[in-house]
Amino acid sequence: MLKVENLSFSYGEVQALRGVDIEVPKEQIVCVMGRNGVGKTTLMKNIMGLLKPSSGSIKMEGVELLGVPTHNRIRAGLAYVPQGRMIFPKLTVEENLKVGLSARSDKQTQISEEIYELFPIFKEMAKRMGGDLSGGQQQQLAIGRALVTDPRVLILDEPTEGIQPNIIQQIGAILEQLVEEKQMTVLIVEQYLDFVREHCQRFYIMNRGEIVAGGETEDLNQDLIKQYLSI
Ligand SMILES: Nc1ncnc2c1ncn2[C@@H]1O[C@H](COP(=O)(O)OP(=O)(O)OP(=O)(O)O)[C@@H](O)[C@H]1O
Ligand SMILES: [Mg+2]
Repeated sequence: MLKVENLSFSYGEVQALRGVDIEVPKEQIVCVMGRNGVGKTTLMKNIMGLLKPSSGSIKMEGVELLGVPTHNRIRAGLAYVPQGRMIFPKLTVEENLKVGLSARSDKQTQISEEIYELFPIFKEMAKRMGGDLSGGQQQQLAIGRALVTDPRVLILDEPTEGIQPNIIQQIGAILEQLVEEKQMTVLIVEQYLDFVREHCQRFYIMNRGEIVAGGETEDLNQDLIKQYLSI
């Protein structure tokens, strides 16, 4: 579904991605792991077109995305939940969701019922300010906002960071539901091992801008954890 090949990127002098290869098969949940500062967010921003790689290829269903601007990648079916949520604190819950609608190619102006079915709390909280929600609720709002474009590939950057366990559980359940019922494909940056083991089929580990390991989640062994993940 999504295939990244030999992708490199530099922030000026600092090379942050070095020949990254990853593949995300359709209807799977694939995670990218690795310690702080290894390049995970940089990789996601390159896939979304928010940063421009120096070389390499990013294909969705065989179609090259390099050179395609972010809004057209969203129209092609990508959606992004950035690290740190980035919701609008001074807009209401409903307005935050409607921001996502502007990225749609059709003229739909209403949030579909499906979003409220996934996140029933948004209904009663529709008029609340985004900034007044708890961290977990803001994360759910960021996911809801990404889903209003009906994506086929959902990319999430550390959605469980700093969030209470019951909401982490709900987020995991929603991702699985999206795969099962909407045939969605999910690429997720995740540091939380239990979450990866429970919800992801495949993993990649990054270190210093490179992919250093990958495989089925059940192959994520103690040696890899010790070498590349534990602090
Ligand atoms: N805007 C920037 N300008 C220069 N260097 C940057 C910039 N953003 C990130 N970097 C550097 O690029 C490297 C990769 O950063 P990135 O944010 O992709 O890491 P990460 O794996 O997502 O880390 P974290 O787990 O903390 O979110 C780091 O060394 C970081 O300092
Ligand atoms: Mg990051």
